[in-house]
Order: sequence, then structure tokens, then C-alpha cells
Amino acid sequence: MTTHQSSPEPMANEALQEAARRNLWMHFTRMSSYQDAEVPVIVRGSGPYVFDQHGKRYLDGLAGLFVSQIGHGRTEVAEAAAAQASELAYFPLWSYAHPRAIELAARLADLAPGDLNRVFFTTSGSEAVESAWKLAKQYFKAIGQPGRYKVISREIAYHGTSMGALAVTGLASIKYPFEPMTPGGVRVPNTNFYRAPDFVASDLDAFGRWSADEIDRAIEREGPESVAAVFLEPVQNSGGCFPPPPGYFARVREICDKHGVLLVSDEVICAFGRLGHYFGAQRYGYRPDIITFAKGVTSGYSPLGGMITSDALIQPFTEGTTSFLHGVTFAGHPVSCAVALANLDVFEKEDLLGHVRAHEAAFRATLEKLTDLPIVGDVRGDGFFYGIELVKDKATRETFTDEESERLLRGYLSHALFDAGLVCRTDDRGDPVVQLSPPLICGQEHFDVMEQILRSALSEAWTRI
Ligand SMILES: Cc1ncc(COP(=O)(O)O)c(C=O)c1O
Repeated sequence: MTTHQSSPEPMANEALQEAARRNLWMHFTRMSSYQDAEVPVIVRGSGPYVFDQHGKRYLDGLAGLFVSQIGHGRTEVAEAAAAQASELAYFPLWSYAHPRAIELAARLADLAPGDLNRVFFTTSGSEAVESAWKLAKQYFKAIGQPGRYKVISREIAYHGTSMGALAVTGLASIKYPFEPMTPGGVRVPNTNFYRAPDFVASDLDAFGRWSADEIDRAIEREGPESVAAVFLEPVQNSGGCFPPPPGYFARVREICDKHGVLLVSDEVICAFGRLGHYFGAQRYGYRPDIITFAKGVTSGYSPLGGMITSDALIQPFTEGTTSFLHGVTFAGHPVSCAVALANLDVFEKEDLLGHVRAHEAAFRATLEKLTDLPIVGDVRGDGFFYGIELVKDKATRETFTDEESERLLRGYLSHALFDAGLVCRTDDRGDPVVQLSPPLICGQEHFDVMEQILRSALSEAWTRI
């Protein structure tokens, strides 16, 4: 039970802290770590910056959580939300449509690659992944291949937390408490070239062929008639930004076609400019059967997700009494659709895709300066999306023990970077990495700040190992 009544006055910091500890449950958070420490409370944002309860400014080097593409404090997007809420705050997409969902679906169909023209909205990325898997399953039942239900995805890849999406996810540590999993999740190697097996470690093309062919081998092993889809991110986030080797996606497409398996491009992070294109599949030139999206479609001014697919996949659902037996109440919420349209207007007006493409080499070069530090093993990524892998020994690429990683990342680095005014992410669900994914409006002055703060914190971290 809460002890606070709703109040017209905003809570003072002390009361906020008390209520945060007593009433709020933060996600993926060790609540114990805030027993004696202040909960960081972010109160407002402006451009690439956010401000905490004390007025301290931070560079938002993670775009919130890979979300805030156009940056914070855009009143034109907020006004679009207010106007839509006044006109029609809510109506479901169950048997009805509303203008903003139709307009947004048409606009996304124009922007999407190839023949992808049919948009099914959700409210989040997990729901988008869940929907794509459910579509694949029902589609194959509808076309007379009822045995196809399995999904292939990559080791350490994150695809969401709902039970279906969790079964697609390749991170054992976050699945274990929720076992048994939904049946059908099958893992294949990811495209971490820095950690490639010895026999392909010196040849990126050979590594790409091998890792794509592992998908072929997994499908053969499982029985092609049992496999529904392959779920891949254009650049895998979890593990620290693994771009695809040259030729990887072309080979994966061939493999999927050979076995009649659907290729799902999970673009919850990689779409909407993160890689300098509306969709990651456009950057790497491949043709998915389904794209899943969320996050950047609204730059976080309101929640929205979805999947985009083609006439071919919707065809069995367009005849007779058949329908896709799936939906959620708030999917394609009118306010979120109005926000997404206003967000895409900003993309166009400010040529954000062109901005990312023009500045990504400078971003990479600035971060690569950090490779002179003994703790920096690898800097990798594309667009405005980078991972920096930390190592104990650069020559051997030896990584940290679990205890060292805990001390290094949670005990020191994450606090040090935040205290120094940089929001980014330290993650050791694979090998220890620092991740950067800033708003797409950032330029050299922001890249320099990230490099300077990282240089100082990583240098200090090295002395503490
Ligand atoms: C690739 C990918 N898929 C799915 C998800 C799940 O999205 P959400 O947190 O909106 O459910 C994420 C979240 O980070 C993601 O990165």
C-alpha cells in the first residue's frame, strides 16, 4: 500500500527518493544497490542532454535505451501528441482503424525495403518479436506446413523478455529463472569476429561464410520441416555490437530460401537511423520477410512497436474466415502513431539519415583513439552504434573473470561514467563491453566528450583491476 496521496505539487527530492525505494520497482535493477545510494532521477531532457534532480547535465550517450533518435525536448512532437489526444485519444485496431495508424502504416510501407508493405502494430519490441514468431507459426499452419514452429537465433542476442521473445533470446542468464522455455528456440553462433574460432580468426570473409553456414547446419540438424524462422539483428546489440561480415546476409537469405524458412530482421534497435538508413536491412542490402521495430519509431515520445511484412505473408489471412489470432489493446495507439509521424517529419526536415552517414566515420575515428589504452581490446559497430570491449590482456585477448568483471563494471565503471556526466551502458552478459548509441543529432563535440570521459574512466579502471 502506498503512503503517498496524489499531490498537485511535484515531490521534493527527499520524498521522491523515499517513494522510489518504497514503491517503484525498476527493471533489470538490483534494488539492493539503492539501499544506501541515491536513486538517479532524470527529470528533463534537451537535445542530446538529460538533467537529474539536482540540475546536473549528462550527455545521453545511449539515447535513453537506444530510443531517443531525434533527442529530447522536441515540442513539435509533444504538440502532435497533445493534438491527437484531444481529437481521439484511443480507439482499438481490433476491427476498426483510425487515420493516424493508416497514415503511419502507409508511410512505413514507403520507407521499408523490397515488398514489405503490411504493418502490424504493437506497443513494444518484445511484442513485435512475439508477433513475428506467432505470425510465422500461424502462417505455416495456414499453408499446410503445420510442423514448422522452431526459431533460429544467435548466441547472446537479446530479443525481448515476454515468454516467446525470451525463447528467441540467446542469453542463458536471463532465461534460467523462467524455465521451462517456450519450445523451439535454437541457437547458432553470432558474428563476433573478435572472438572468432581459430580456423576462421584471420579471415573475415571465411568467418562470415562459416557463421552463415552454421544456420544452414542448424536447420538441417533440426529438420527443415520443423523450422519456421531465423531471427537476426542487422548489428547484434547484446555482446557489444557485432556487425555482419561481408556476404553474411546474402548467404543467410540463400539458406532461408533453400529451406523455405522466413528471415526476420529484428530492427528494434537498428531501424530509424541508428545505422544511417531507415532500416538496417537497407544498409546491408538484404531482403527480410518480416522486420520488427519499436524504440526509435517514436524517439520515445510515446511507446510503439510493430512488424512489417509482405502481401505474400498476409495472403492466407485475407480469404474466408481466417484471421491472424493475435492483438493487444494499445497496439497502434493513436497518440503513438501521431508521434511517430511527427518524429519521421523531423527525420526528413533535418536529414538525420544523411547526418549519421556524414558523421559516422568521425564517430568511429574518435572512439578508436581509445585503442591506445591497455584495457580496450576492440571498438566495433556501424552508424551511431558502437561497442567497446574491455580486456585484461590485449595481446592474448584474455577477458576478465566474473568477479573482476563485477568489480570493474558494477563496482566502478558504471558509476564513474555517470558521475562524469555520460549516460552509456556497461554490460557483461557476453564479454565486458561499454556501449554507445547516442541521439542521431550528435556531432564531433559530443563524440569528443564521450571519448574524454571514457578515456579518463577506463584509465582509472585499469589501475583498479
Ligand atoms: C533487438 C531487440 N529486440 C527486442 C527488444 C525488446 O524490446 P522492448 O524492450 O521494447 O520489449 C529489444 C530491446 O532492447 C531489442 O534490442
